[in-house]
Amino acid sequence: MPAVTDFHISETTNAPLNEGELLLKARYISVDPYMRGRMSDAKSYVQAFEVGQPLNGGVIAEVIESRNPEFMPGDNVLGHLQWQEQQVVSAEKVKKLDNNEAPLSYYLGMLGMPGLTAYFGLLDIGQPAPGETVVVSGAAGAVGFVVCQIARIKGCRVVGISGSDEKNAYLRDMLKVDEVINYKAEKNLKAAISRACPNGVDVYFDNVGGSVSDAVIYNINNKARIVLCGQISLYNSIDLPTGPRLQPILLKRSALMQGFIVSNFAPRFSEGVKQLTQWYNEGKLTGNETIVKGFDKLPETFIGLFKGQNLGKLLVEITG
Ligand SMILES: NC(=O)c1ccc[n+]([C@@H]2O[C@H](COP(=O)([O-])OP(=O)(O)OC[C@H]3O[C@@H](n4cnc5c(N)ncnc54)[C@H](OP(=O)(O)O)[C@@H]3O)[C@@H](O)[C@H]2O)c1
Repeated sequence: MPAVTDFHISETTNAPLNEGELLLKARYISVDPYMRGRMSDAKSYVQAFEVGQPLNGGVIAEVIESRNPEFMPGDNVLGHLQWQEQQVVSAEKVKKLDNNEAPLSYYLGMLGMPGLTAYFGLLDIGQPAPGETVVVSGAAGAVGFVVCQIARIKGCRVVGISGSDEKNAYLRDMLKVDEVINYKAEKNLKAAISRACPNGVDVYFDNVGGSVSDAVIYNINNKARIVLCGQISLYNSIDLPTGPRLQPILLKRSALMQGFIVSNFAPRFSEGVKQLTQWYNEGKLTGNETIVKGFDKLPETFIGLFKGQNLGKLLVEITG
């Protein structure tokens, strides 16, 4: 588990702007579970962070000064940027945001990377059919709460698993999820899932892995689809964890288990954003965020992901 003392905040001065560059002031910085994997030099799909260099990730920023004719001071932009209050970047590194459609911060959540993860993972890999049972772990988090809503839009019966009664009340009362399970409160999770899914599990959207996923997979139907999106329960493990060997169940039920990285779908991102925005405008999709204020809160907010401190997308708002 990372500790606040693993992080260090330092002061630098901004370089002068060259032709084509922008001076940006961060407004929202995203903290995401995949960043934990970047704190290791193990082989991965994304580059490791470098010790002594700023972390980087999804950031929404305001243009303060521009030497690019396409951008004006006051424009809001989205980019994969450094965890810095201010930075000078080449304009090609960012995309201008139009905040007339939705709150700006949603472009780091429901209408951004986590929303696209939910959209492509559930629909392309999960292939849910109306009336099927979709189980979602990490159901109240940034990806999970969008998966729950899309599964409802598609006419599925949705069962959400989260780590608190408060999160489950939100899933049930606000998102109209059919059944909820608090994995921390259940002594026998396998039995709880069986009770919540009397017709078995057709699609399992896995955000967490570990024993929660073992319990769901014991309950899968013939031809079930398991969407391997995340394994957050294992991200702080030092050794490769062992658990039940689930292959016999997959074999006997002719089930599919497929991992994916959202960037696999990059050529289709505009399709995803368009559909998510349309559902949002039609009132079928609702946003939710936990926003912590203050640049200095970044380390503890990031660590909060592993303690379940967020409902919806977890962000840091840079004030001042
Ligand atoms: N494949 C991809 O391209 C892709 C893209 C984005 C995200 N992801 C993955 O999707 C998952 C969700 O990401 P997110 O951004 O939406 O994060 P998130 O769900 O908003 O935040 C993480 C949540 O995970 C839960 N959690 C933490 N430790 C846990 C544990 N030991 N066991 C079970 N649950 C635990 C906590 O909720 P509770 O209170 O419910 O425990 C916490 O709030 C992550 O595994 C992430 O790596 C994958």
